[in-house]
Amino acid sequence: MSLPHLMTLDPPYELGDEAATFTFGGWTEVDDEDAPNVTLTINGRPAPVQVYPRPQVRNHFPGIQVRGVIATVDFADLLAGIDLQQARGGFLIEAELGSDHRSRVFEYAVSPGWMRRVFGDGPRARAVPPAHLQIRVAGAAAGEYNRTGEAAAKRLEALADAAGFSLARGQNVLDFGCGPGRLISALAPRHPSVRFHGADIDAEAIAWAQAALADFGAFTVNPHLPPLPYADEVFDLIFSLSTFTHMPEDHQFAWLDELRRVLKPGALLVTTIMNPFAYDLPAKIMEQAADTGFAYWDDAAETEGLPSFYRLAYHTHDYVRRHWARGFEVLAIGGHDLNDTQDSVLLRRV
Ligand SMILES: C[S@@+](CC[C@H](N)C(=O)[O-])C[C@H]1O[C@@H](n2cnc3c(N)ncnc32)[C@H](O)[C@@H]1O
Repeated sequence: MSLPHLMTLDPPYELGDEAATFTFGGWTEVDDEDAPNVTLTINGRPAPVQVYPRPQVRNHFPGIQVRGVIATVDFADLLAGIDLQQARGGFLIEAELGSDHRSRVFEYAVSPGWMRRVFGDGPRARAVPPAHLQIRVAGAAAGEYNRTGEAAAKRLEALADAAGFSLARGQNVLDFGCGPGRLISALAPRHPSVRFHGADIDAEAIAWAQAALADFGAFTVNPHLPPLPYADEVFDLIFSLSTFTHMPEDHQFAWLDELRRVLKPGALLVTTIMNPFAYDLPAKIMEQAADTGFAYWDDAAETEGLPSFYRLAYHTHDYVRRHWARGFEVLAIGGHDLNDTQDSVLLRRV
């Protein structure tokens, strides 16, 4: 898995009503401590930033050069006249820390009171799930939850489009394994005529989505094994990002059959498998996969809040072509094309 650059800005990840000014603090690796080249932009606007020594961080990561970073921002001043049109799904702060060739974006949710204070009558604040729900679906890069979700949503949309399933037509779309609705909150504002549904086993994530994203889609909890609470042949398109990468083989087959049941004939399922070069897979997994094409890593770390069956599954392309063509035509398998870590799989229901 590609590691984020060694740089951080500290939480809080939500700016409350009173935070008209805020001091961003953190540290970053630099090429040269004596001539650091550190920048900070807030939603594209350059912010004044100061650097200072952080020997204790440098001692923690021997061999790298480090500078502390501090920037106090008056938001009304810095963001005056900013184009708010892009914030269709709701506004949030994107702070991009740059250091020589490195850069990383950190997201800060804002409260409705913060929006009124800084912009007066502006767009709404973006609904962002609490940090532990972000971490549950997006791993350690919690500060980039929306950004990585936007990128994945755009990619899924482009893949569906290329296969003849343009969202512009306004269809019935399911996000299976939607978590707290990250993809739907990226797609729904762009496609108001699509009826989005989200299903997940994670009751806490679904409760959050039902409360925060009700105008974007209909969210429901589903059991660990089928059925889903939908009638036969209702969906034109199903997205399922990074779900089959976490299921044992018997669950996988049960869910492939169930997704087929709720898809219309000829409709499309876009899902993903792990790319072996993006993950540090243990030798025994690669050996097992060399034998059968499938490996389930049942001693991989558990994920807080999810059931113990939820570990890591690895599939070879050949396995997918042979075993997933049960009621589906395997249209295409991508190469390292989703979230920097996964390969897309496009299945057409026959
Ligand atoms: C890595 S997360 C990805 C979440 C979401 N697709 C996204 O990209 O933001 C995997 C999700 O799959 C869900 N999941 C795993 N097995 C499932 C199942 N059998 N039915 C529904 N959801 C499942 C988990 O609860 C979790 O929310």
